Amino acid sequence: MASLTIRKLDDAIRDELRLRAARNGRSVEDEVRVILREASQDGLKTDARFPQDAPDPENSRKPLKNIGDQLRVTLIIGGGIAAYKALDLIRRLKERGIHVRVVLTRAAQQFVTPLAASALSNERAYTDLFDPQSEFDAGHIRLARECDLIVVAPATADLMAKMANGHADDLASAILLAADKPILVAPAMNPLMWNNAATRRNVGQLQRDGVRMIGPNAGEMAERNEAGVGRMAEPTEIAIAAHTFLRPPRAQPLAGKRVLITAGPTHEPIDPVRYIANRSSGKQGYAIAAAARAAGAEVILVSGPVDLDEVPGVSMTHVESARDMLAAVQAALPVDIAIFAAAVADWRVVNEGAQKLKKTAGNAMPPLQLTENPDILATISKLSEHRPPLVIGFAAETEHLIDNAKAKIARKGCDWIVANDVSPATGIMGGDDNTVHLLTRSTDSADIAVDSWAPMSKEQVATTLVARIADTVTQSTKDQS
Ligand SMILES: Cc1cc2nc3c(=O)[nH]c(=O)nc-3n(C[C@H](O)[C@H](O)[C@H](O)COP(=O)(O)O)c2cc1C
Repeated sequence: MASLTIRKLDDAIRDELRLRAARNGRSVEDEVRVILREASQDGLKTDARFPQDAPDPENSRKPLKNIGDQLRVTLIIGGGIAAYKALDLIRRLKERGIHVRVVLTRAAQQFVTPLAASALSNERAYTDLFDPQSEFDAGHIRLARECDLIVVAPATADLMAKMANGHADDLASAILLAADKPILVAPAMNPLMWNNAATRRNVGQLQRDGVRMIGPNAGEMAERNEAGVGRMAEPTEIAIAAHTFLRPPRAQPLAGKRVLITAGPTHEPIDPVRYIANRSSGKQGYAIAAAARAAGAEVILVSGPVDLDEVPGVSMTHVESARDMLAAVQAALPVDIAIFAAAVADWRVVNEGAQKLKKTAGNAMPPLQLTENPDILATISKLSEHRPPLVIGFAAETEHLIDNAKAKIARKGCDWIVANDVSPATGIMGGDDNTVHLLTRSTDSADIAVDSWAPMSKEQVATTLVARIADTVTQSTKDQS
């Protein structure tokens, strides 16, 4: 079976993957799996997520393609000097998974070619209202309707005047007049044109008509020695505005909360080249960090040595040993919620070698003296000052799971324990799935409730745990008010 190295992907695709994964509370690997699964379910042959339209007459007689649930933008490029930036905008929109169909005004074609727009969008580019090949079934109406958003970039003074006054004498203005979809315009023009009374009236009219606007920005003009308001917003700004408009941010129940998470193993040095470690992969802690971030929290992830990509939007601290991890955790306080998912080594070597230990002549093994590491969960749970209001530990056990986890919650003084059976037969250590039990200590009694979850992926465990945390936080906020 073919394997895919995510690090080797194109930067833009990797960034988009990471964003998508974080938004959905999944690891990048899992997100790729979901995408591939969806693609195979939809049928790769007929999948229009990867449009292949070529600008040939045969093809243009076919009805405009059905592109399933992919977000769609009709991009109208007006005839301004900033038209070249619209080509970059096509790429920025596509990076965000948006399908783009391009329309160029006659003037726009003086600045960029339909061929370039079509090559970048993988679609034919449209230019002519009276094109018999696309208008045999009123293509301009379909271009106006078969999208989720119309973006006009650059929006020239002329195009905005036409929009404000309801003209429809070319393909772009006819589409804009026939639109039943929201319109986002990115004006670009000389500051004198922007400040002209006619343009001011037109801008006011468009705003009253519900047209959304991004920019123009202030800065240098293409014309020599001219500066002022009139530069088109940057392609990335426009792409973000379009994407945010199409996909408004999801509810963020942990907004305003600071969440500290530890993940991975610790490495306890024996000498400069050897260490004691365990098999923890860090996947569960990283998935929780992504889910908490997606829920709006400010997340600090203190990670032991792992082979995982950083979680976007999360503040990362990399550590090696248990003592380093404790120091990083203490430095991150105060927090609202602390989740200790790291598999911290219980012991470290007291007589750590300053140099690499050598085999001795008689092959006698150097004795390793062990001492207990600091107990991070107990230390933070028992703080008198800055104790996080919710402290969650993890209990990885190979026998008597629930009993050991109950004993741990009492011994450590934490509020919740996520317990899992990590016997080798379960494949949980280092694997993608997890079977957990959530133990919660009631605030007004010594009772411990046990909630056993069905087997699920580590990402699902993360989103379920974060949803549970969000419920508890919301409830306690209500109780206090
Ligand atoms: C070199 C050059 C640059 C221009 N740049 C702009 C511009 O940035 N903004 C603008 O509103 N018009 C600009 N114009 C004027 C438009 O091209 C002109 O108004 C045209 O009719 C616009 O057509 P359209 O709105 O159908 O694209 C420029 C013209 C030339 C010759």
